[in-house]
Amino acid sequence: MKAPMTWRNGPNGYGLISRALHWGMALLILVLLSLGLRLSAMQPDLSTLWLYGLHKTLGLSVLALVLLRLVWHRITPPPQPLAAGWQVRAAKAGHLALYLLMLVIPLSGWAASSATGIDTLFADRWVVPPIAPVSETVEATAFAIHAVATKLLMALVTVHALAAFQHEMAGEGTLTRMLRGRR
Ligand code: HEM
Ligand code: HEM
Repeated sequence: MKAPMTWRNGPNGYGLISRALHWGMALLILVLLSLGLRLSAMQPDLSTLWLYGLHKTLGLSVLALVLLRLVWHRITPPPQPLAAGWQVRAAKAGHLALYLLMLVIPLSGWAASSATGIDTLFADRWVVPPIAPVSETVEATAFAIHAVATKLLMALVTVHALAAFQHEMAGEGTLTRMLRGRR
Protein backbone atom coordinates (compact mmCIF):
# COMPACT_ATOMS: atom_id res chain seq x y z
CA MET A 1 0.00 0.00 0.00
CA LYS A 2 1.25 3.46 -0.83
CA ALA A 3 2.08 5.51 2.27
CA PRO A 4 0.14 8.78 2.52
CA MET A 5 2.11 11.96 1.89
CA THR A 6 2.74 13.71 5.18
CA TRP A 7 3.74 17.24 6.03
CA ARG A 8 5.15 16.32 9.41
CA ASN A 9 8.22 14.26 10.28
CA GLY A 10 7.86 10.85 11.88
CA PRO A 11 10.12 8.38 13.71
CA ASN A 12 11.10 6.81 10.36
CA GLY A 13 10.68 9.50 7.76
CA TYR A 14 11.04 13.12 6.77
CA GLY A 15 7.82 15.02 6.08
CA LEU A 16 7.27 17.24 3.08
CA ILE A 17 8.14 20.49 4.88
CA SER A 18 11.52 19.25 6.14
CA ARG A 19 12.41 17.82 2.75
CA ALA A 20 11.44 21.01 0.92
CA LEU A 21 13.47 23.05 3.42
CA HIS A 22 16.48 20.72 3.11
CA TRP A 23 16.68 20.73 -0.69
CA GLY A 24 15.55 24.32 -1.18
CA MET A 25 18.13 25.58 1.29
CA ALA A 26 20.85 23.26 -0.07
CA LEU A 27 20.31 24.77 -3.53
CA LEU A 28 20.26 28.33 -2.18
CA ILE A 29 23.45 27.72 -0.20
CA LEU A 30 25.32 26.22 -3.16
CA VAL A 31 24.36 29.28 -5.25
CA LEU A 32 25.45 31.57 -2.40
CA LEU A 33 28.81 29.85 -1.97
CA SER A 34 29.70 30.28 -5.63
CA LEU A 35 28.28 33.79 -5.83
CA GLY A 36 30.19 34.74 -2.67
CA LEU A 37 33.46 33.48 -4.14
CA ARG A 38 32.89 35.63 -7.23
CA LEU A 39 32.11 38.65 -5.06
CA SER A 40 35.24 38.32 -2.98
CA ALA A 41 37.29 38.59 -6.19
CA MET A 42 35.40 41.70 -7.39
CA GLN A 43 35.46 45.40 -6.70
CA PRO A 44 32.07 46.77 -5.64
CA ASP A 45 31.06 49.35 -8.24
CA LEU A 46 27.89 50.42 -10.01
CA SER A 47 27.98 47.49 -12.44
CA THR A 48 28.48 44.79 -9.78
CA LEU A 49 26.39 46.28 -6.99
CA TRP A 50 23.31 44.26 -7.95
CA LEU A 51 25.25 41.01 -7.40
CA TYR A 52 26.06 42.11 -3.86
CA GLY A 53 22.38 42.93 -3.39
CA LEU A 54 21.36 39.52 -4.72
CA HIS A 55 23.84 37.76 -2.42
CA LYS A 56 22.55 39.66 0.61
CA THR A 57 18.89 38.98 -0.24
CA LEU A 58 19.45 35.24 -0.76
CA GLY A 59 21.71 35.08 2.31
CA LEU A 60 19.14 36.76 4.55
CA SER A 61 16.53 34.34 3.16
CA VAL A 62 18.71 31.43 4.32
CA LEU A 63 18.80 33.01 7.78
CA ALA A 64 15.00 33.30 7.87
CA LEU A 65 14.57 29.74 6.55
CA VAL A 66 16.98 28.18 9.04
CA LEU A 67 15.08 29.80 11.91
CA LEU A 68 11.84 28.43 10.44
CA ARG A 69 13.48 25.00 10.11
CA LEU A 70 14.60 25.02 13.75
CA VAL A 71 11.09 25.97 14.90
CA TRP A 72 9.56 23.29 12.66
CA HIS A 73 11.89 20.65 14.12
CA ARG A 74 10.78 21.64 17.62
CA ILE A 75 7.19 21.06 16.54
CA THR A 76 7.89 17.82 14.69
CA PRO A 77 11.33 16.28 15.32
CA PRO A 78 13.18 14.66 12.40
CA PRO A 79 13.97 10.92 12.49
CA GLN A 80 17.20 9.55 13.94
CA PRO A 81 20.08 9.24 11.42
CA LEU A 82 20.18 5.88 9.64
CA ALA A 83 23.37 4.39 10.99
CA ALA A 84 24.71 2.49 13.95
CA GLY A 85 27.04 3.26 16.84
CA TRP A 86 29.56 6.06 16.38
CA GLN A 87 28.13 6.93 12.97
CA VAL A 88 24.91 8.13 14.57
CA ARG A 89 26.92 10.42 16.81
CA ALA A 90 29.02 11.58 13.84
CA ALA A 91 25.88 12.31 11.80
CA LYS A 92 24.31 14.24 14.67
CA ALA A 93 27.49 16.24 15.31
CA GLY A 94 27.75 16.96 11.58
CA HIS A 95 24.14 18.14 11.38
CA LEU A 96 24.63 20.32 14.45
CA ALA A 97 27.72 21.89 12.86
CA LEU A 98 25.78 22.49 9.62
CA TYR A 99 23.08 24.29 11.62
CA LEU A 100 25.65 26.43 13.44
CA LEU A 101 27.25 27.41 10.14
CA MET A 102 23.84 28.19 8.61
CA LEU A 103 23.41 30.71 11.45
CA VAL A 104 26.96 32.08 11.78
CA ILE A 105 27.49 32.66 8.04
CA PRO A 106 24.50 34.91 7.30
CA LEU A 107 24.83 36.68 10.67
CA SER A 108 28.52 37.48 10.06
CA GLY A 109 27.71 38.64 6.50
CA TRP A 110 24.95 40.88 7.84
CA ALA A 111 27.18 42.20 10.66
CA ALA A 112 30.04 42.92 8.22
CA SER A 113 27.68 44.67 5.81
CA SER A 114 26.23 46.71 8.69
CA ALA A 115 29.73 47.73 9.78
CA THR A 116 30.42 49.29 6.36
CA GLY A 117 27.77 51.90 7.16
CA ILE A 118 25.98 51.24 3.86
CA ASP A 119 22.28 50.30 4.11
CA THR A 120 21.64 46.56 3.73
CA LEU A 121 18.63 46.02 1.46
CA PHE A 122 16.39 42.98 1.20
CA ALA A 123 15.11 42.43 -2.34
CA ASP A 124 16.42 45.90 -3.38
CA ARG A 125 13.55 47.34 -1.45
CA TRP A 126 13.46 46.99 2.32
CA VAL A 127 16.26 48.32 4.51
CA VAL A 128 17.17 45.76 7.16
CA PRO A 129 18.39 47.24 10.46
CA PRO A 130 22.15 47.25 11.15
CA ILE A 131 23.30 44.61 13.67
CA ALA A 132 26.82 46.01 14.18
CA PRO A 133 28.29 49.48 14.66
CA VAL A 134 29.99 51.24 11.74
CA SER A 135 33.64 50.28 12.22
CA GLU A 136 36.46 49.10 9.98
CA THR A 137 37.68 46.64 12.62
CA VAL A 138 34.24 45.08 13.02
CA GLU A 139 33.88 44.97 9.24
CA ALA A 140 37.23 43.20 8.76
CA THR A 141 36.62 40.77 11.63
CA ALA A 142 33.09 39.86 10.56
CA PHE A 143 34.15 39.36 6.92
CA ALA A 144 37.04 37.18 8.13
CA ILE A 145 34.56 35.04 10.11
CA HIS A 146 32.28 34.94 7.04
CA ALA A 147 35.17 33.75 4.84
CA VAL A 148 36.47 31.08 7.24
CA ALA A 149 32.99 29.78 8.11
CA THR A 150 32.08 29.46 4.41
CA LYS A 151 35.23 27.39 3.78
CA LEU A 152 34.28 25.12 6.70
CA LEU A 153 30.79 24.78 5.23
CA MET A 154 32.20 23.78 1.83
CA ALA A 155 34.29 21.06 3.46
CA LEU A 156 31.46 19.83 5.68
CA VAL A 157 28.86 19.77 2.88
CA THR A 158 31.25 17.69 0.78
CA VAL A 159 31.68 15.15 3.58
CA HIS A 160 27.92 15.26 4.29
CA ALA A 161 26.98 14.54 0.65
CA LEU A 162 29.60 11.77 0.38
CA ALA A 163 28.31 10.17 3.58
CA ALA A 164 24.76 10.35 2.21
CA PHE A 165 25.80 8.62 -1.05
CA GLN A 166 27.82 6.03 0.81
CA HIS A 167 24.92 5.10 3.08
CA GLU A 168 22.54 5.05 0.13
CA MET A 169 24.85 2.65 -1.72
CA ALA A 170 25.08 0.46 1.36
CA GLY A 171 21.34 -0.05 0.87
CA GLU A 172 20.19 1.94 3.88
CA GLY A 173 17.90 4.22 1.88
CA THR A 174 19.38 7.38 3.38
CA LEU A 175 19.01 9.54 0.26
CA THR A 176 15.69 7.95 -0.65
CA ARG A 177 14.34 8.98 2.73
CA MET A 178 15.38 12.61 2.23
CA LEU A 179 13.95 12.60 -1.30
CA ARG A 180 10.73 10.62 -0.94
CA GLY A 181 10.12 10.86 2.79
CA ARG A 182 10.49 7.20 3.60
CA ARG A 183 12.54 4.21 2.48
C1 HEM B 1 24.11 31.15 3.97
C2 HEM B 1 24.32 32.37 3.57
C3 HEM B 1 25.59 32.86 2.92
C4 HEM B 1 26.60 32.17 2.28
C5 HEM B 1 26.72 30.68 2.03
C6 HEM B 1 27.59 33.16 1.88
C7 HEM B 1 28.77 32.85 1.21
C8 HEM B 1 29.77 33.76 0.91
C9 HEM B 1 31.08 33.44 0.41
C10 HEM B 1 31.61 32.04 0.09
C11 HEM B 1 31.76 34.60 0.27
C12 HEM B 1 33.23 34.77 -0.16
C13 HEM B 1 34.07 34.84 1.09
C14 HEM B 1 35.53 34.98 0.82
O1 HEM B 1 36.13 34.01 0.40
O2 HEM B 1 36.07 36.08 1.06
C15 HEM B 1 30.89 35.68 0.64
C16 HEM B 1 31.20 37.02 0.57
C17 HEM B 1 30.32 38.03 0.93
N1 HEM B 1 29.12 37.89 1.59
FE1 HEM B 1 28.18 36.16 1.94
N2 HEM B 1 27.17 34.40 2.26
C18 HEM B 1 25.96 34.27 2.91
C19 HEM B 1 25.20 35.28 3.47
C20 HEM B 1 25.50 36.62 3.41
C21 HEM B 1 24.67 37.69 3.96
C22 HEM B 1 23.36 37.50 4.69
C23 HEM B 1 25.31 38.87 3.66
C24 HEM B 1 24.91 40.30 3.98
C25 HEM B 1 23.73 40.70 4.37
C26 HEM B 1 26.53 38.54 2.94
C27 HEM B 1 27.44 39.46 2.45
C28 HEM B 1 28.60 39.15 1.79
C29 HEM B 1 29.48 40.15 1.20
C30 HEM B 1 29.25 41.68 1.17
C31 HEM B 1 30.57 39.45 0.66
C32 HEM B 1 31.76 40.02 -0.11
C33 HEM B 1 32.91 40.24 0.79
C34 HEM B 1 34.07 40.80 -0.01
O3 HEM B 1 33.89 41.81 -0.66
O4 HEM B 1 35.14 40.19 0.05
N3 HEM B 1 26.61 37.16 2.80
N4 HEM B 1 29.68 35.13 1.06
C1 HEM C 1 24.30 23.25 1.56
C2 HEM C 1 24.03 22.04 1.56
C3 HEM C 1 23.43 21.20 2.66
C4 HEM C 1 23.13 21.45 3.98
C5 HEM C 1 23.36 22.75 4.74
C6 HEM C 1 22.55 20.24 4.54
C7 HEM C 1 22.11 20.08 5.85
C8 HEM C 1 21.51 18.97 6.37
C9 HEM C 1 21.04 18.81 7.73
C10 HEM C 1 21.16 19.87 8.82
C11 HEM C 1 20.48 17.58 7.84
C12 HEM C 1 19.85 16.98 9.11
C13 HEM C 1 18.35 16.86 8.98
C14 HEM C 1 17.65 18.18 8.86
O1 HEM C 1 17.83 19.06 9.71
O2 HEM C 1 16.86 18.37 7.94
C15 HEM C 1 20.60 16.93 6.55
C16 HEM C 1 20.16 15.66 6.25
C17 HEM C 1 20.41 15.02 5.06
N1 HEM C 1 21.09 15.53 3.96
FE1 HEM C 1 21.81 17.38 3.77
N2 HEM C 1 22.51 19.28 3.55
C18 HEM C 1 23.05 19.82 2.40
C19 HEM C 1 23.23 19.20 1.18
C20 HEM C 1 22.99 17.88 0.93
C21 HEM C 1 23.32 17.17 -0.28
C22 HEM C 1 24.02 17.79 -1.50
C23 HEM C 1 22.90 15.88 -0.11
C24 HEM C 1 22.99 14.66 -1.02
C25 HEM C 1 23.80 14.42 -1.93
C26 HEM C 1 22.30 15.78 1.20
C27 HEM C 1 21.73 14.65 1.74
C28 HEM C 1 21.13 14.55 2.97
C29 HEM C 1 20.46 13.36 3.46
C30 HEM C 1 20.29 12.06 2.69
C31 HEM C 1 20.00 13.66 4.77
C32 HEM C 1 19.24 12.71 5.69
C33 HEM C 1 20.16 12.00 6.60
C34 HEM C 1 19.42 11.03 7.51
O3 HEM C 1 18.40 10.49 7.12
O4 HEM C 1 19.91 10.80 8.61
N3 HEM C 1 22.38 17.00 1.81
N4 HEM C 1 21.25 17.79 5.68
